[in-house]
Amino acid sequence: MGDLFFNKVAGVILAVALFMMALSELTNIVFGRGVSAELAYPVDLTALQAAAPAPEEASGPVDFGLLLASADLSAGERTARRCVACHTFNQGGANGTGPNLWGVMGRAVAGVAGFNYSSAMNAYGSGGSSWQFQNMYDYLENPRGYVPGTSMSFAGLRDAQERINIIAYMRAQDDEPLPLPAPLAAGTAGEDMTADAGVEADMAGQDAAMEQPANAGEMPGAEAGAPEAQEPVSDDGEANEGEGGPDAGGGR
Ligand code: HEC
Repeated sequence: MGDLFFNKVAGVILAVALFMMALSELTNIVFGRGVSAELAYPVDLTALQAAAPAPEEASGPVDFGLLLASADLSAGERTARRCVACHTFNQGGANGTGPNLWGVMGRAVAGVAGFNYSSAMNAYGSGGSSWQFQNMYDYLENPRGYVPGTSMSFAGLRDAQERINIIAYMRAQDDEPLPLPAPLAAGTAGEDMTADAGVEADMAGQDAAMEQPANAGEMPGAEAGAPEAQEPVSDDGEANEGEGGPDAGGGR
C-alpha cells in the first residue's frame, strides 16, 4: 500500500473517466449531433410569421346570420359610447359631428338629408350603396381605409366581435330592423374557413421551413445556390408582412 497503489487507483479512475468521455463524445457524434443538425436547420421566422396573418385576410365569408343572432347587444351598446361624441343613435336624434344613426342599417350611404357628408362618402353612396352587414363591418374596422377621404376621424374597431356587437345594436335602433341573412351552410361558415385556413397556413409555414434545409443539404458544394433559394422566401415574407401590417393591426 505505497504510493504505487494510489497511482494505480488514480490511473484506473482516469482511464474510466476518459473512456466515458470518449463514449459520450461518440454518442454525440453518432446520435446527438445528427439529430440536432436536423432540428436546428434555419427556420425562416419571417416566412412563418408572414404566413400566419395572410389567411386571416381570406378567411372566407363572415357568417352574419349566425354571428348577429348570437351577438351581445349590451356589449354593442357599450361600444356605441365611443361613437356618441359625434353620433346620436336615437330616433330623431340630432346630427352632430357625424350624422344621426337611427336606422342606419339598410339606409342609403350618406343618406341623412341635411348632413354635410364628405365628398368621399357622397361618392361612395352615389352608386346607390346602402349600409349592409358586410360594408358596415369593413367600414367600422378601418373607416379611413374603407372610405378613403371620409371625414369620420375614428380609428376603427379592430375587434371583429366588437363590430358584430355594435352592428347588432345599430340594427336594433330601427323601426324595422334589417333582416338577418340566413346562416351559411355548414362547411362554408366563416369559422370553419378560418380553421381550415389556419391549418393551411401551418402547412405552408412548414413547407417553407423544410424546403430550405432540403435544398441546402442536397447541394453541399453549391453554397451560392442556398442564398438564392432563400431569397424568394424572405422577399415574400417581407412583402406579405408589408401587406399584412395594417391588417395584422386590424386583428387587435
Ligand atoms: C370623431 C367623430 C366620430 C366618431 C367618434 C365616430 N364617427 Fe361615425 N361619422 C363621423 C362623421 C364626420 C361621419 C361622416 C363621414 C363622411 O361624410 O365622410 C360619420 C359617418 C358614419 C357612418 C356613415 C353614416 C351614413 O349616413 O352614411 C357610420 C355608419 C358611422 N359613422 C358609424 C360610427 C360608429 C358605429 C362609430 C363608433 C364606433 C362612429 N361612427 C364614431 C364622425 C364620427
